[in-house]
Amino acid sequence: MSLPFDGAITEFYETGAPDDIRDKISTADKDDILTPTYPYDERMRRKPYEREMDALQIELVKMQDWVAKTGTRVVCVFEGRDAAGKGGTIKRFREHLNPRGARVVALAKPTEKEASEWYFQRYIKHLPTAGEITFFDRSWYNRGVVEHVFGFCQPHQREHFFVQVNPFEAMLVDDGVHVFKFWLNVCRAEQLRRILDRENDPLKQWKLSWIDVEGLKKWDAYTNAIRETLDRSHSSHAPWTIVRSDDKKRARLNAIRTVLHGLDYTNKDPQAIGKVNKDVCGGPDIWD
Ligand code: ADP
Ligand code: AMP
Ligand code: MLT
Repeated sequence: MSLPFDGAITEFYETGAPDDIRDKISTADKDDILTPTYPYDERMRRKPYEREMDALQIELVKMQDWVAKTGTRVVCVFEGRDAAGKGGTIKRFREHLNPRGARVVALAKPTEKEASEWYFQRYIKHLPTAGEITFFDRSWYNRGVVEHVFGFCQPHQREHFFVQVNPFEAMLVDDGVHVFKFWLNVCRAEQLRRILDRENDPLKQWKLSWIDVEGLKKWDAYTNAIRETLDRSHSSHAPWTIVRSDDKKRARLNAIRTVLHGLDYTNKDPQAIGKVNKDVCGGPDIWD
C-alpha cells in the first residue's frame, strides 16, 4: 500500500524536525512519556485504567439517563493540536451511551455558502435539543487557531470572532445549556510520534490530511495562536479545562470525571467517579 503524501511525515521527521525532538522519539520506549514536565514518567497501566474506566462508564450511562429524562442539554467541545486525542476521547465518552442522544459533530471545512454566513451559524445547527449531549470534535475555535495559522481567515475576522465568542457562549449558558470546553495538550515530540504512527498504520491513515503535514512545520505559530485563544476565551461562564494528553489513558479518565462532577444527575456516586487529577487536568495555568 502506498503511503499518503509520499512519506512526507517520515521526511519531516528525518530532515525537518529539531534534533532534540528526533532524538527524544528515537530513544524512547513505547510507554515513555516524552514531556519532561509531565507529572509521570510512564503511561498508565492497562489494568487500573480499565477498572477506572468501567466505573466511569457506568456513571456516564446514569448521567445520560438523567439528561434524557430531564431534557437537559449538554455541549462538550474538544480542541487541541492534530493528534492530541480528541477523537479517541470522544469515542470513550460515547462507548456505552445511546448514540441517538450523544451525537458527534465534526464539521468539514466550510462550504462557500457557509463561508458567506455568520461564522457561528453552521455550528448552531448542531447544538443539542433537550435530552441530548453533543460532542464537538473541533468547533468554532477553528477561527482562533487553525484558520489563523493557515491564513484561512483574515485577521479582522478573527478579531471579530474573539469579540463574539464569549457573549455567544454566555447566551448558551444563560439558556440553560451545560457547556464544557476541553483543550487537549501534547508536546511536540509526542505529536510527531503519533503522526508518524498514523502514516505507517493503514487503519490510521484516514486521520491524516495535508494540514497535519504542513502543521508540523508551524509548531510555534500554533503555540502563539493557542495561547491567545485560551487567554481571550477563558471565561467564568465557560471556562477551559486543559487536559495534558501525553498519556491518553489519564487524559480520557480525567476528562470524563470533569463532566460527571459538573452535572447533578440522579444516583450520582462521587466515590465511583473519583477525584480529578489536577496535575493532568485543570485550568489554563497547566497549559504549556
Ligand atoms: P482533522 O484534524 O479534523 O482531521 P484537518 O487537520 O484536515 O482535520 O483540518 C483541521 C481543521 O481545519 C478542520 O476542522 C477543517 O475543517 C479545517 N479546515 C481545513 N481547511 C479549511 C479551510 N480552507 N478553511 C477553513 N477551515 C479549514
Ligand atoms: P507561519 O509562517 O505560518 O509559521 O507563521 C508565522 C507567523 O505568522 C505566526 O506568528 C503566525 O501566528 C502568523 N500567521 C500565520 N498565518 C496568519 C494569518 N492568516 N494572519 C495573521 N497571522 C498569521
Ligand atoms: C486527534 O486529536 O487525535 C484527532 O486529530 C482527533 C480527530 O481527528 O477526531
